[in-house]
Amino acid sequence: MKNLSNKKILLIICGGISAYKSLELIRLFKKNEAEIKTILTESAKKFVTPLSITSLSQNKVYEDLFSLENELEMDHIALSRWADVIVVAPTTANTISKLSKGSSEDLASTVIHASNKEIFLVPAMNVRMWEHQSTKENLKVLENYGYKIIGPVRGDMACGEYGEGKMSEPSEIADEINNYFFDQINNKKIKALVTAGPTNEYIDPVRFITNKSSGKQGYEIAKSLSKRGFDTTLISGPTNLKVDHKINLIKIETAEEMFKATQENLPADIAVFAAAVSDFKIDKKSNQKLKKTQNLNIYLKKNIDILSYISNHNSMRPKLVIGFAAETEDLEKNAISKLENKNCDWIIANDISKNNSGFNSDYNEVFIYYKNSKGKKEKLSLKRKSEISEEIVDRIVTHIN
Ligand code: CTP
Repeated sequence: MKNLSNKKILLIICGGISAYKSLELIRLFKKNEAEIKTILTESAKKFVTPLSITSLSQNKVYEDLFSLENELEMDHIALSRWADVIVVAPTTANTISKLSKGSSEDLASTVIHASNKEIFLVPAMNVRMWEHQSTKENLKVLENYGYKIIGPVRGDMACGEYGEGKMSEPSEIADEINNYFFDQINNKKIKALVTAGPTNEYIDPVRFITNKSSGKQGYEIAKSLSKRGFDTTLISGPTNLKVDHKINLIKIETAEEMFKATQENLPADIAVFAAAVSDFKIDKKSNQKLKKTQNLNIYLKKNIDILSYISNHNSMRPKLVIGFAAETEDLEKNAISKLENKNCDWIIANDISKNNSGFNSDYNEVFIYYKNSKGKKEKLSLKRKSEISEEIVDRIVTHIN
């Protein structure tokens, strides 16, 4: 687990019988040369002692939010910034519920809330609690916030029951964290470019033609790529969406600006063209606001196809080119023809005539068509766009490895 070396891990231990396993987790992290700081919740102190943790971690244990001594030495914001990752093990059903509601009533939840780092939750609880609808709903919220969930696994529980809810073994947890750092170190050298959102094509200085694209799916893909450590550039048409500072966000308005920004940000290793680029622009844009004195005829001419241009360009073409196909009919036929005509490696197609997915929805259902696979497709069934993007990026990682 050599990727753990010199990494700063903030371990939050909540109050559950599996808390004893966290001692072994600290030992493993330390053995692999990670630096550990620990937060113990009030109820965790009933299961493990600050003394045992300090002895193993050889570092300070933080206990409550309003300890003056702790705040002077390292406040809760500094503590969350100090960490490279935060691991919450065990994560109880109660903590899952509190976090899903954004509550910050103790040091652990405040630090998590204030964090801008990757957060891994390691749930451990009784099988009925794990299977309870409220736990499932709360976890979905947290996954949507981008928290990573490790386990739980199936097995005999401390309470005498059998089922899913058992905390993952410390070696599996350490492995996952090691893999996370492996991705961060390896993918940092790999450049990914994503286009997203609509474009505006101006008729005059105040009027333009646009489309219904929200940009959500493209933004989620950029976020997933960045979280996996890729050096990510997002070229976006007008949207209200935000990304964190790790993503190089370039805002444009027109298709021409998107084309220029795309060229300026190549070469890249991976390019995902998720933007709904306007197919047409106004032939002769008026420099003055048009007056309503007469009927207006607007002549539209074709915009350049950015995806097609780049993927057919010998020197500019990224190794992996992924296009999108937003269709209202003949999904398969259109997707396959775009795959071939635009020289893509993959086309991700979705049916935008469905109400619960596609434009502006938080959900999507897509089919991935692969080059040279004789029409073979893969379905990613209806789920949050954030989850669809994680699954797409999983496939990208597998492909480039
Ligand atoms: N695309 C592009 N530049 C354009 C038009 C489309 O880069 N001027 C890209 C999109 O980002 C997407 C893919 O091409 O990855 C397909 O876009 P789509 O709008 O589905 O198809 P079009 O090629 O525009 O064809 P049509 O509108 O006729 O379906």
